[in-house]
Amino acid sequence: MALFFVFLFAALCILVSLAVRRRRIRRGGAVGEEQELMLPPGSMGLPYVGETLLLYHQNPSVFFASKQMRYGDVFKTHLLGCPCVMLASPEAARFVLVTHQQLFKPTYPPSKERMIGPSALFFHQGEYHLRLRRLVQGSLGPDALRAMLPDVESAVASTLAAWDGHVASTFHAMKRLTFEVGITTIFGGLLDDRHKEELRRNYSVVEKGYNCFPSRIPGTLYYRAVQVSSASHTRKLS
Ligand SMILES: *[C@@H]1O[C@H](CO)[C@@H](O)[C@H](O)[C@H]1NC(C)=O
Repeated sequence: MALFFVFLFAALCILVSLAVRRRRIRRGGAVGEEQELMLPPGSMGLPYVGETLLLYHQNPSVFFASKQMRYGDVFKTHLLGCPCVMLASPEAARFVLVTHQQLFKPTYPPSKERMIGPSALFFHQGEYHLRLRRLVQGSLGPDALRAMLPDVESAVASTLAAWDGHVASTFHAMKRLTFEVGITTIFGGLLDDRHKEELRRNYSVVEKGYNCFPSRIPGTLYYRAVQVSSASHTRKLS
């Protein structure tokens, strides 16, 4: 079942509600008089690890589907070190992303940030975010896309040619093609085949580790993904 979950880290919500609670206490209201904080139904699991082990113990889709069945479209849990609220309804997603977006701050769990690097577009807000976004948008405007068309076309043609007479997995072929087009968008035709292949290998290591349990034990998929990703960052910056 295709579930579109907005992975919303409500560490922020909880911080905000704690701040409100403190202010109320400071203003002299007795704690007992306060209204209970309104968090959605759900369970927070064990201290510190929360429900992270449960999530990784089974197929994540099964984890989310069973929670959704039990608690409804909006539920709380605790994953990857963050108390969070999961949203599975278009109305809730619209609330967070469109109508009340000013109340929310985009963030990722620290384990993901470690992998992607702190300078990624979605970790930022305000002026820097706008500047970065303008740069990215510029490279995706109609003129830029038009200029890229011959390269994209030749990538598509060579993908199709490779299928000739073979049974191919569309999933893998499309992944490869998407990577190819992404590389063309970022580097133009500047990257030679050897570097492209190296980057593809590194990217696949990061991809494999991306949704794995964030363990710092050498040899685990997450650990390897962080290693490769930071090596690539260092290389990019040097
Ligand atoms: C790929 O990862 C290795 C480290 O695992 C690194 O030395 C190399 O520079 C990376 N290559 C690219 C193109 O990012």
